[in-house]
Amino acid sequence: MKIVTICGSLRTDSSTRRALLVAAAAAKDVGASVEFIHLGDFDLSFCDGREDESTYGGDTQRFIQIIGGADGLLIGTPNYHGSFTGVLKNALDLLGPDAIRDKLVGLVATGRGDAGAMNTLNHLRHVCRWMNGWVIPAEVSIPRAQEAFDASGTPVREDLEGQLKNLGTELVRYAGLLER
Ligand SMILES: Cc1cc2nc3c(=O)[nH]c(=O)nc-3n(C[C@H](O)[C@H](O)[C@H](O)COP(=O)(O)O)c2cc1C
Repeated sequence: MKIVTICGSLRTDSSTRRALLVAAAAAKDVGASVEFIHLGDFDLSFCDGREDESTYGGDTQRFIQIIGGADGLLIGTPNYHGSFTGVLKNALDLLGPDAIRDKLVGLVATGRGDAGAMNTLNHLRHVCRWMNGWVIPAEVSIPRAQEAFDASGTPVREDLEGQLKNLGTELVRYAGLLER
């Protein structure tokens, strides 16, 4: 069972990344292998709407291949003006219409404010479903994300740690069901 994690924040001390790492560790604990994609490490093209995505250069083909080899995706993003980040949208747009078909998808989103990032999750869920991915019901919205983790990356709110671990283990459980 291979899970690929994509972080929609490029910041080195990203709270979204911290959240994904907690969920990914839980997925590993129940037997999955995990590959973490930091989009800043990939020289990705801008999606320009061409018919054949295999003609994009830079690291785009490597990115597409890694996604193709995944059974499940853990995708995290900050809330940027009520939605997910442009960096993440471009990365998803570089994937063909069937790139995530039959793959399970778990979502987490962070925000600075008290309201969290539910709208961001709604938008991202919609896009992933549109791409034929199976978004699992467990999803995590993290309000006041800048104070949600300590320096070691551990969630300071107990309920948050439980939610993130549940996201990782549920993703593996659902991917196993789909494999049958
Ligand atoms: C362009 C931009 C727009 C943002 N818009 C919102 C917003 O509408 N609501 C909110 O709560 N936080 C907003 N934020 C704050 C980020 O969502 C928040 O700091 C997030 O936790 C950053 O995630 P990161 O640490 O993973 O980069 C915005 C940040 C940026 C840079």
